[in-house]
Amino acid sequence: MIDRRILRGDLLDFTEDPGFVAPHEAQGVRYRPDHLILMDAGRIVSVQPAQDALPDSWQNVAQSDHRGRLILPGFIDTHVHCPQLDVIASFGAELLDWLNTYTFPAERRYVDPAVSYDGAQRFLAALWAHGTTSAVVFPTVHKVSAEALFETAARQHMRLITGKVLMDRHAPDGLRDDVDQAEKDCVDLIDRWHGQDRQAFAVTVRFAPTSTPEQLRMAGRLCQTYAGTYMQTHVAENRAEVQWVADLFPTARSYLDVYDRDGLIGPRAVLAHGIWLDECDRAVLRDSGAQIAHSPSSNLFLGSGLFDWATAQKEGVKVSLASDVGGGTSLSMLRNIGDAYKIQALQGTRLTAWKALYTATLGAANHLGLSHEIGRIEPGCMADLAVWQWAVGPVATHRDTLAQRSLHERLFAWMTLGDERNLISTWIAGRPVYEAPLAEV
Ligand code: GUN
Ligand code: ZN
Repeated sequence: MIDRRILRGDLLDFTEDPGFVAPHEAQGVRYRPDHLILMDAGRIVSVQPAQDALPDSWQNVAQSDHRGRLILPGFIDTHVHCPQLDVIASFGAELLDWLNTYTFPAERRYVDPAVSYDGAQRFLAALWAHGTTSAVVFPTVHKVSAEALFETAARQHMRLITGKVLMDRHAPDGLRDDVDQAEKDCVDLIDRWHGQDRQAFAVTVRFAPTSTPEQLRMAGRLCQTYAGTYMQTHVAENRAEVQWVADLFPTARSYLDVYDRDGLIGPRAVLAHGIWLDECDRAVLRDSGAQIAHSPSSNLFLGSGLFDWATAQKEGVKVSLASDVGGGTSLSMLRNIGDAYKIQALQGTRLTAWKALYTATLGAANHLGLSHEIGRIEPGCMADLAVWQWAVGPVATHRDTLAQRSLHERLFAWMTLGDERNLISTWIAGRPVYEAPLAEV
């Protein structure tokens, strides 16, 4: 019985995409106040109103009572860099300068296995302390950095998607691989980790400028040969970067086409940013089922541009949400959602709490082909959950007492004013991996 637990609280999750409509018109919102989640062997086995009698065999199971608190599926961060916790909040640069000045020097340290294992532990613990239970992660070019992430995630049965970064040019010494060795390393990681526990491999092209055409072809071959693997990269983030790619690949129709023509774009492709794409690119994304990992705080912090989410949605492109730390300034999906709201507001679109929270949970799960496992509070899904308090501090508490005209009003204030300080506990596969220090609760 040791693997059985019960969580009690107000459950919020989603059953479909609420879309960009007014809050009161949205479909797919599921709010179940004062319910119990019955968890066994890592999974949710049933959900019931708290007032209903428990099945006999559950009478003596330990309950974590969070009456009056929110329980959501754990957040899914679809694009984040493990080694960049070391450079988060670095001053004054756009993408290409920022990579050379801060990021590449930091990533070089991960050649040391001790740095990689330390970094993986610190990074995953930080995700959990922000309510994130699944992630699509960039490590570094070093095989050991991917290994460290897989091993550390598997110990907690966390759903993690990662793979050694491919980069064989335009990077400093100590951060370049070569096509043959990189391919061997990827195949070995796939053999040993892909499909093990909850681990999945992603062919991880850093971005077009740091791979030779030969390496891009090799990456495409891996995607075709190992059909269950994911692919992650960056695309069309910054205007100088887009121009550089056009200079490096003069025969490609667009930045996205550099990847597409080598077979890297498919339903398991996760492309960060996609700010500077055109209609033709969006049609390629729609038809292939690839997703854009929209990274709001990064796009603002690096001054990259304003992602037009409404147009992407209208044209059928899948969009998930990501922190992109350390270009992004917070691992908190709530803070990133707050930035996403402002980016859309600048373009005349209002992001509802429904659309935002759906995207950070079931939306991402759907786009990753994992909605049978994550993103919902549903029997059969893994028990990956986060418990939140409605308000922290006098301003948010005051606002929360007044925001009672509708559930959306209250959720929107929570989402906008809340952050990791609102987090009470994070559960992965039915076990707590983070609990707020008592003094903060
Ligand atoms: N493009 C290539 N590498 C990176 C990176 O590490 N962060 C961001 N934001 N963009 C990139
Ligand atoms: Zn990134």
